[in-house]
Amino acid sequence: MYIVGINGSPNEMGETYYLLNEVLKQCEGCETEIINVGKCLMDTKTPFCINCSVPCNKSCYKGTDLETAYDKMAKANAIVFGSPVYFGSMSGQLKTFFDKGRALRGEKLFIGKPAAFVTCGASMFGGQESTIAAMHASALVYGMTILGPGSNEFDAAHLGVCAVKPAKDDQWANKRCSSLAKRILREISK
Ligand SMILES: Cc1cc2nc3c(=O)[nH]c(=O)nc-3n(C[C@H](O)[C@H](O)[C@H](O)COP(=O)(O)O)c2cc1C
Repeated sequence: MYIVGINGSPNEMGETYYLLNEVLKQCEGCETEIINVGKCLMDTKTPFCINCSVPCNKSCYKGTDLETAYDKMAKANAIVFGSPVYFGSMSGQLKTFFDKGRALRGEKLFIGKPAAFVTCGASMFGGQESTIAAMHASALVYGMTILGPGSNEFDAAHLGVCAVKPAKDDQWANKRCSSLAKRILREISK
């Protein structure tokens, strides 16, 4: 089984990375990888989707790291999306990642793919849940199956893993990471 983490933060090893890594390292027996979205976007032709062709012909990212990232997502048994809270929502990088993958949506590549979510903000009640909900919306538009962090080993939980910076000291978020790993393992072993 292969699980990919998608890091929407410009900080390669920051808070979002920490949370993704906490989840993935507890997905025992699975091959895992974390991809940094901002780095992948660097070598694409345009910084955002500019709707240059309808349908999308992928021309802005053919042969780039972004194409490799989408390929890895397509072969993954589950995906964990992570974003810092930026103005109560996901980062521009992650939103662009969802936007630029539009052609893959047309190819129905991600229908039913299990997707889970982590986020970290600097403030308590800083918009963590609205950030998770924004990621949910994009994943749903791709046809993905949303996984919450609830598990039999913990509790039913809520929208996703929500942390306050520094995430390593947020005990509740760390418990939720463990619970989410259990949930993912349960889902992909069905
Ligand atoms: C542009 C920008 C907007 C931000 N907006 C919020 C916010 O709305 N709420 C919040 O709690 N933190 C906000 N923050 C703080 C980040 O969410 C926080 O530092 C996060 O832990 C960074 O994660 P990272 O280390 O993975 O990049 C913002 C930071 C930046 C740079």
